[in-house]
Amino acid sequence: MTNKKNRKGVILAGGLATRLYPISKVVSKQLMPVYDKPMIYYPLSTLMLMGVKDILIITTKRDESLFKNLIGRGENLGLKISYEVQSEAMGIPHAFILAEKFIKNSKVVLILGDNIFYGHDLTNQLVSSIKKNSEATIFAYRVQDPSRFGIINFKKDNIPAFIEEKPKSSKSDFAITGLYIYKSNVVGYAKKLKPSERGELEITDLNNIYLKNKKLNYKNLSDGSVWLDTGDIESLFNASQYIKIIQERNQILIGSPEIQSYKNGWISKKKLINSLSDKKDQYTNKILKYI
Ligand code: DAU
Repeated sequence: MTNKKNRKGVILAGGLATRLYPISKVVSKQLMPVYDKPMIYYPLSTLMLMGVKDILIITTKRDESLFKNLIGRGENLGLKISYEVQSEAMGIPHAFILAEKFIKNSKVVLILGDNIFYGHDLTNQLVSSIKKNSEATIFAYRVQDPSRFGIINFKKDNIPAFIEEKPKSSKSDFAITGLYIYKSNVVGYAKKLKPSERGELEITDLNNIYLKNKKLNYKNLSDGSVWLDTGDIESLFNASQYIKIIQERNQILIGSPEIQSYKNGWISKKKLINSLSDKKDQYTNKILKYI
């Protein structure tokens, strides 16, 4: 049985985001607005909806204090947040090496700080996936431009064959999203990886190890779920527009840690309202309206 306390979450929010220059020149991409809230609120809320309370945020030396100012230790939301610096962008699996002491023998969910997930059935899917995960679980989503992502290829009968990082051309258009669940053995596998030609440890190499060992649980994101990428200016702008439209139509807030904490029963309505009472901004007004 899964012990909920034995679940840890890592948000990888480092990197220099050179594709977003000049807006990323002095500040982390994951602090930039996606419509009405900082980008990192979305992956943080996704971890929370998976029942993860103990979260490590990995960021750069330059931005660490900004993240701490924004999110703090998370006590107000019923969370336990800690921070780690990645001095150089050495690749996504490097997060597990940095997080070794934090992970110990727990199950760990890694989410990229620039990935946004949203959907009605998503909660059920993610909650059941973390419960059932035995070694590794990844999620795929159909994309228009496979050359920008890790792409999963299939044998006959849709059996996963191998994952390829940013293929120049590909038969498959199923991208691996930036949300991964692993058993604590992931740290050992990450340590054995060798840097790729671009000089980074590759998450695709890590997942291919599990796949080869027949230990990779592969799922498509549930029907109607949406995965938004914020890798370049165009997709960042589109993500903001999407969030605005859905929020206004459905009268909801997407990616609000405050609302997620309240929904999870980690914070009472009274405590939430008290913590917001002196604020006059639009985001707070929406929280008060929708809880
Ligand atoms: O978004 C999903 C895709 O993410 C996957 O389909 C790919 O398989 C995976 O390699 C990754 O591709 P990207 O090209 O989007 O990765 P990128 O280098 O942009 O890094 C993703 C995020 O992780 C970004 O917000 C920066 C952060 N990051 C990245 C690296 C390599 C770090 O914080 N440290 C790092 O060392």
